[in-house]
Amino acid sequence: MKIFLDTARLDEIQQAADWGVCDGVTTNPSLHSRAVAHEGDAAIGYRERILRIADIVDGPISAECVTRTTEELIAEARELASWHPSVVVKIPIDGPGLAAIKALSEEGIRINTTLIFSLNQALLAARAGAAYVSPFVGRLDDIGENGIQLVADTVDLLDRFNLPAQVIAASLRNTDHTAQAARVGAHIATIPFPVLEQMQLHPLTDKGIQAFLDDWHKAEAQLRAQPVS
Ligand code: G3P
Repeated sequence: MKIFLDTARLDEIQQAADWGVCDGVTTNPSLHSRAVAHEGDAAIGYRERILRIADIVDGPISAECVTRTTEELIAEARELASWHPSVVVKIPIDGPGLAAIKALSEEGIRINTTLIFSLNQALLAARAGAAYVSPFVGRLDDIGENGIQLVADTVDLLDRFNLPAQVIAASLRNTDHTAQAARVGAHIATIPFPVLEQMQLHPLTDKGIQAFLDDWHKAEAQLRAQPVS
């Protein structure tokens, strides 16, 4: 499973890239807005942000459309895709979105269909030509459904019917979500930075490191105390 960062913050993306665990990035208007608020007076616009991300990460970068009709989506997607070869255009699933996905994918523009909450939506997006489909795990869990089950069903669906789209498990909120996404075969998990940080941690690792250090120092102390012959 590839690891994407689900953030628009450059500092977080840089850290994940330094760790060698950032295969791509997904952004959306809410993440951009949060990054702008975090940056304060130094805030940058969406185009500048995507270009700076492309300087850090050698992989797909999702940039989301904010228009609603098919014609607007097509024009906006062409503009976003012209910014950088790594740009994948994010379009929410609905009728106008599907028509835009069909037209744009025929032009060779890669689409990530977002806000997927059902297997039917995933099927339509993949059939329309989307390169990626993004089931939203956490938001389904929020309403008492099983988000990971939708990821599993979508992986099976694409595999069974030989559809080339890849599944991006999105709206992941915790380390259990990321482990489960891997277990059910998601091609990609897009992960918020705080969750990525937690993925490295385990109390037994901390305990084990401390025990190794203590034993090392004990051995060193004993060796130092040996009489010089
Ligand atoms: O990947 C989509 C994500 O940014 C939405 O996450 O936590 O707002 O449901 P969330």
